Amino acid sequence: MSKTKTICTVCNYIYDEALGEPRLQISPALKFEDLPDEWPCPECGSAKDMFQPCSCVSLPTYEQTCAVHQQDTNPNNTLAATAEAISKTTSVGQLVAQRPLRACVLEQYGIDYCCGGKATLEEACRKKGLEVEEVLEKLLAADRKGVQSGDTDWTTASLKELIDHIVSTYHQPVRQELSRVAQLAEKVARVHGDNHPEMVEVLNIFNRFKAQLELHMQKEEMVLFPGIASMEATGTPQIFGCGGGIEHPIDVMNQEHDEAGEALCAMRRLTHDYTPPDDACSSFKVLLSSLAQIESEMHQHVHKENNILFPRALELRNPALISR
Ligand SMILES: [Fe+2]
Ligand SMILES: [Fe+2]
Repeated sequence: MSKTKTICTVCNYIYDEALGEPRLQISPALKFEDLPDEWPCPECGSAKDMFQPCSCVSLPTYEQTCAVHQQDTNPNNTLAATAEAISKTTSVGQLVAQRPLRACVLEQYGIDYCCGGKATLEEACRKKGLEVEEVLEKLLAADRKGVQSGDTDWTTASLKELIDHIVSTYHQPVRQELSRVAQLAEKVARVHGDNHPEMVEVLNIFNRFKAQLELHMQKEEMVLFPGIASMEATGTPQIFGCGGGIEHPIDVMNQEHDEAGEALCAMRRLTHDYTPPDDACSSFKVLLSSLAQIESEMHQHVHKENNILFPRALELRNPALISR
């Protein structure tokens, strides 16, 4: 049976050929290409040409943040087990490091858990004017859903495994996505720039963001990540650049993450939270949807580096901790 998946780039609905679409009496094994040309997205009604193969950057996001896994049959037990792990004084970065599905809740509330990951839950809620008790309750509900999801615990996996995961899950897909979205942004700015000058500004910000992110990932893959893997494998501190320790390249990477976060915030602000205007064509909508996907991927990507990989790599500087 085919397992090809195709995603609606407007609303993220996924047509899975292995499942068909029972709500519309579409049986499993019917290929997406064999659906009628006029077939609309069952969730948002978008035309068939708004779909694209799930090899794109959006699938990992969809599966990690939106797929609901098996419900726990005894939620009270789960609640008791996780209540201890969630505290108002735990940093939001640590909350997501413990359980990745919590990222979905924090994103709903607009809480930054990657670059702003050092803030406690209480501080992050206060900054956003949110009731911390309400957010805590949602986090516990997410824990109940995700308790049997089998997420990898990146706080205990080897750093080499975490690096391989970051490169294959975030670096490689986002490179392809950046090139595709750059062409789309150029087209939207050219066609709609007169009526929507903000899209010309979005194009300029995106092009700078793309160039800086490509260079940033190259530095991680060629210098920092091999250095971390070598420190883990040999137990020997590495010398970077002009003779400094690992904290120097990590400082630079953290700073570049902040700059990428600022560019994403600027594009979100200019597009009113990626909301298509009334006169938006299909390309305009796809561009906004794609930018939102890139932002969501970047939050997870940067979170895993800032809050898990880098702090664990810095621990390797202490020889007493290297062999544990
Ligand atoms: Fe990275
Ligand atoms: Fe990075």
